[in-house]
Amino acid sequence: MRRRLAAGNWKMNGLGADLGEVEALAAAHGESGIDILLCPPATLLERMSRISGPIAIGGQDCASKEHGAHTGDISAAMLKDAGASYVILGHSERRADHGESDTDVREKARAAIAAGLCAIVCVGESLEEREAANTLDIIGGQLAGSIPDLVTGENLVVAYEPVWAIGTGKVATLEQIGEVHDFIRARLERRFGAGVGRSVRLLYGGSVKPDNAAAIFSVPNVDGALVGGASLKAADFSPIITALEQA
Ligand code: 13P
Repeated sequence: MRRRLAAGNWKMNGLGADLGEVEALAAAHGESGIDILLCPPATLLERMSRISGPIAIGGQDCASKEHGAHTGDISAAMLKDAGASYVILGHSERRADHGESDTDVREKARAAIAAGLCAIVCVGESLEEREAANTLDIIGGQLAGSIPDLVTGENLVVAYEPVWAIGTGKVATLEQIGEVHDFIRARLERRFGAGVGRSVRLLYGGSVKPDNAAAIFSVPNVDGALVGGASLKAADFSPIITALEQA
C-alpha cells in the first residue's frame, strides 16, 4: 500500500551542465511504477523541474519562517514555487554543519507541510552512539522531537541515515537496517495510530549503491532509499531505481 520512493540527494553538487543526467533518468524511467525524486541544490531546482518529467523535485532544507528578514534562507513556499514537491529536513550534515536541533527540524517540517510539501525528516545515530548501544534511544528521541503533530502518509517520509554510513562506503547490515526500520514503524504507529503510522514511507540512506540496493530493498519496512553520491550520475542511480522497481 506504500508507494516506493527512490530519492537522490545531490547535496552541494551540480551545475547546469549536469542537467543531462536528469534527462537520461527521465527517459529511462518514464513508465516507472514507483516514485522517483531528485533533490538538487536550490540553484538548480527550477531548471531541473522544467525537464524532469516523471521525476519529482525536492529541496534540501527550508526555513521555518514564512518570509521576511532572513538573509540567505529559502521558505517552503519558495521551494514549491520553484517546482519542488518534497524537502529533505534535518539531514545529519545540516544538524552538524548548522547546529540544527530536533526542535528546529520540527518547525521546518511544520512550515513545509503547511506550504504543501512532503517533508523527508532524517534521523540517524553517530558511530559513538551505536557503539554505546544507544541507537534506538537516539532514534526515538529524534523522531519524537523532529516530527510535528499533524502528519499523514502523504506529507511525511522518514529517512534513517546512520551518520557513520554516509559517504563512507560502510553500509549498515540488513539486520541493523531492519531493527531500526521496525522500531521507527512501531513508534509512528504508537504516536499517530496504525492508519497513519503504516502509511508513512521509510527510506534507508547511507552508501546505497547499485550493488547493494536490491538486498537493502528486501528488508521489511524499507520503502526506498535516500541516495547521496550514487544519485549524481544516471548510470549509478538508474540501476538503484530499477532494483526498487523490481523489489
Ligand atoms: P551517500 O549515499 O553518499 O552515503 O549519502 C547518503 C545521504 O546522506 C543521502 O542523504
